Amino acid sequence: MSHSHNDIQPAFPAPEPDGSMAGPWSHTVRRENGELRVGGVKVSQLVAAYGTPLYVIDEEDFRTRARRWVVAMNTSFADLAGARVFYACKALMSVGIARWVLEDGLALDTCSEGEFVTALAAGAKGHDIGLHGNNKSEREIMMALEHNISHMVVDSMAELRLVERIAENLGKRANIVLRVTAGVHAGGHEFISTAHEDQKFGLSIQAGQAWEAAQATVASPHLELVGLHSHIGSQILSVDAFSVAAQAVLDLRACIHNELACTVPELDLGGGYGIRYTGADATPPEPEAYAELLATVVRAHGEKTGIAHPLVSIEPGRSIVGPAGLTLYTVGTTKNVQLDDTHSRRYVSVDGGMSDNIRPALYDAQYTVAVANREARGEGTLSRVVGKHCESGDIVVHNVELPADVTAGDILATPATGAYGRVMASNYNMLSRPGVVAVHDGSSRVLIRRETVADQLALDADYQA
Ligand code: LLP
Repeated sequence: MSHSHNDIQPAFPAPEPDGSMAGPWSHTVRRENGELRVGGVKVSQLVAAYGTPLYVIDEEDFRTRARRWVVAMNTSFADLAGARVFYACKALMSVGIARWVLEDGLALDTCSEGEFVTALAAGAKGHDIGLHGNNKSEREIMMALEHNISHMVVDSMAELRLVERIAENLGKRANIVLRVTAGVHAGGHEFISTAHEDQKFGLSIQAGQAWEAAQATVASPHLELVGLHSHIGSQILSVDAFSVAAQAVLDLRACIHNELACTVPELDLGGGYGIRYTGADATPPEPEAYAELLATVVRAHGEKTGIAHPLVSIEPGRSIVGPAGLTLYTVGTTKNVQLDDTHSRRYVSVDGGMSDNIRPALYDAQYTVAVANREARGEGTLSRVVGKHCESGDIVVHNVELPADVTAGDILATPATGAYGRVMASNYNMLSRPGVVAVHDGSSRVLIRRETVADQLALDADYQA
């Protein structure tokens, strides 16, 4: 991470002359007459209609980002063997979201029965779906084979054997993509980096596991080696890490071509493209920059080896939905803590916290926040926005300058919470998980309704109404 939780997020930044907000806010966020609007809808209207905490997804922003990846990849790979963009459903999934993604020309990268069934419910066909996971259940594998999905990303030799057996039983031939580790370690945090060797994912190229799995796949009448996959980590802000990994996987593909007489048709380079969370974060590379770089690596490799170019797939999640989302909270209690003779910190409690955003506690992730319902006044005051959970690590924003007059009933908005917020939400302290609402062109609609205590009690076998 380029910055830590000791950094102070700047005081309530003034909007641009057109009312738009600089920094990590979604495209349509504006401050008008003091109040934030997103997708043309005032936050006060959203709060009145749906309550808080609330996840809000800016449809225009989401779809612009999704299409931008498609156009960038199609453009850069037009003279090669083409490209495919899979939306990583793990970042945020619902039937409505999957429909947008399909309409915008992306495929769906799923990693569980839940995501898979949701994709089908949105109208996805087998060829629109990829299936990931390092420990797929037999049921998940069967489902994938029965729907003739685009590809199944296989993570280990044991799993390859399992898929082979199930495919044989079903009389199917499974489209296999082998997930390999290229030894590249990238990303902001150890826990969310997945390509170094001492971790649970993938077949090591270096240790020969990838080669062994490739041989076994090519040799099996029930398996078809359709691709090689590499995912090097999360929240990556440099294009170079991808190029190093692509190089390693292309070299493996060349060996498979030369020694096993198999030209692997697809190269899947995974997700992990970083976004801005706070005003202090650097602007990440644009999709066009990634697409161009990857195409340059693939083109050069093809020219050097003379092997036919692969179709290149990517799996962005966060970079599509992260910046498109924000969370609305209502302020409850506040208190001041004297840090030393001259400094104090104000604690501002909101009605959610680590149950709707576990990322600060889990990854020490940094966010920023703004007063959303009105133009707040007064001096910038060092503040910590905290949740309502029975835990002191329940922090939404570590250090932010908020106006002195922030008070109970104010609405706070946290930008860049579209990815890995709702999907990692919990019922800790039996809080009900917030709903997800889409806004577009002045109107809003529910994507995922707010959970209720009744929903939670419905699972309790001893509960009697
Ligand atoms: N493909 C594969 C194989 C993945 O494992 C992931 C993320 C993605 C694609 C999408 O990555 P994205 O473009 O969204 O970064 N929960 C964490 C991140 C873990 C993501 C795991 N895999 C977070 O909140 O940051």
